[in-house]
Amino acid sequence: MHDEKVILQVNDLKKYFSLRKGFLSETKYIRAVDGVSLELFKGETLGIIGESGCGKSTLGRSLVNLYNITSGSVVYNDGDQKINLINANEREKKDYTKSVQIIFQDPFSSLNPRINVFETVAEPLIIHQYPKEVIEQKVSEVIAQVGLRDEHLRRYPHSFSGGQRQRIGIARSLIISPKVIICDEAVSALDVSVQAQIINLLKELQARYNYSYIFISHDMSVIRHICDRIAVMYAGRIVEFGTKEKVLNSPRHPYTEALLDAVPKISNRRSKGKRKILSGEPPDLSRERIGCSMFERCGYRIDACQTTPMKLSGSRNQHLTACMRTNEIELNGLIIDSKQL
Ligand SMILES: Nc1ncnc2c1ncn2[C@@H]1O[C@H](COP(=O)(O)OP(=O)(O)OP(=O)(O)O)[C@@H](O)[C@H]1O
Ligand SMILES: [Mg+2]
Repeated sequence: MHDEKVILQVNDLKKYFSLRKGFLSETKYIRAVDGVSLELFKGETLGIIGESGCGKSTLGRSLVNLYNITSGSVVYNDGDQKINLINANEREKKDYTKSVQIIFQDPFSSLNPRINVFETVAEPLIIHQYPKEVIEQKVSEVIAQVGLRDEHLRRYPHSFSGGQRQRIGIARSLIISPKVIICDEAVSALDVSVQAQIINLLKELQARYNYSYIFISHDMSVIRHICDRIAVMYAGRIVEFGTKEKVLNSPRHPYTEALLDAVPKISNRRSKGKRKILSGEPPDLSRERIGCSMFERCGYRIDACQTTPMKLSGSRNQHLTACMRTNEIELNGLIIDSKQL
């Protein structure tokens, strides 16, 4: 279980993509991540859930410095070293990249088909110019950690199953001993039994090495199995944040309720009223808005929701929600006792 040291602190992070329609026309912005703040504790798994296009991958990629962020701050602090990604120098950026790694969604396209497993896994060490003997030893260690064998090292990605390829991807992320790992839909492309194996592997590695995970998924049943706390994202923002028990059993935002309602029956649900599955399209991220971004799709809306600024409220690291009506409405969650969670 995690201790309460904050290893990654994200404040009001924004990542806008500019979209220019034509010559001389005004630049529009896609607000893919629009003011996300969160704290990741050392050794915990923080889930990020939300529908397609809500900005999860953009957030993940911003956190591993694959995108230049538009504004906000990201501070990494492992006790020995504190790095503020925004004003980091080249050396600090390199250290940051070593400490915060990402595992991608698609084990089929994320591996280079032209290089064998050894070279794939060793590449980060080669980039960081480690000596040859160290590289060989580390590859051998890490390949065993993810449940592959030395004889796999000379083979090419096409000769592996999806689950094995994801293990190769994980080995590649682990090889430079990161502290934080962002898993972006790391098991979504795998079938259910292989998903369970990879989730168990990630959990075992966490128990052994105290990794901190940010686990991005659109699948509530996966999030439920691996996460300690959950951030629910909608249209570039976090709309609910809390422990897994709180968010799943007593959601405080209508969007979370809708997500939970879409989960195939995983327990004795309170079956009260109609299903809340969201209808309508996700909002246009290039449109600036003042009020709640879910307004058009929300069954609980009142006029004021459209004009009251959206704000994630509650005391720090408690159960937070961005719904201004949260104390007036009663939402349905899942009833799962803590042993089942
Ligand atoms: N490089 C880019 N240029 C312009 N727009 C982008 C870019 N990358 C993402 N977007 C837009 O930003 C929004 C968020 O995309 P993102 O990939 O972060 O969503 P996601 O939550 O990861 O979705 P999914 O569940 O489908 O993976 C989308 O509207 C997307 O079209
Ligand atoms: Mg994505």
